[in-house]
Amino acid sequence: MKVAIVFDSRTGTTRAAAAAMGRIFEEQGHECSVQSVADADPEQVSEADLICVGSWTQGLFIILQHPTKSSMSFIDRLGDLKGRKAAVFCTYKLATGSLLPRMAAALEARGAEVLGQFKYRGPEPTEQFRSFAAAMAAAP
Ligand SMILES: Cc1cc2nc3c(=O)[nH]c(=O)nc-3n(C[C@H](O)[C@H](O)[C@H](O)COP(=O)(O)O)c2cc1C
Repeated sequence: MKVAIVFDSRTGTTRAAAAAMGRIFEEQGHECSVQSVADADPEQVSEADLICVGSWTQGLFIILQHPTKSSMSFIDRLGDLKGRKAAVFCTYKLATGSLLPRMAAALEARGAEVLGQFKYRGPEPTEQFRSFAAAMAAAP
């Protein structure tokens, strides 16, 4: 499966999480690209079988959390995602509120099927993500 991981990172945590996710996908035999929202080409990303978009959590720590403007505007620049699988992820310190559902809804509005939503309190992907990557490897 061709996987594209795109992230927005301010101080490197989300970048490191995205890179670790890429390594996990590659261990499962997928072809994977990992790029920042600033560097990624929306047209190319739209052609992946599985599109993962990640943001750091912006907000007032316990309220008003949201994805970054850059991560949402990257989703807005993606093409028709009908038939594409997607996942969203974020890194955070305290709470993520509606961040992940908001990113998922934006991808779904473009036609993607969002199969996973993952949050990490640091740069390490969770066991839940590892199981997801293994399930994707087993999928037809
Ligand atoms: C201005 C600002 C607002 C933040 N708001 C939240 C928040 O509402 N909830 C939370 O859990 N973490 C919040 N954080 C913490 C970051 O989301 C967290 O440290 C993240 O892992 C940083 O990712 P990065 O290193 O990729 O930039 C905030 C950080 C900053 C700088």
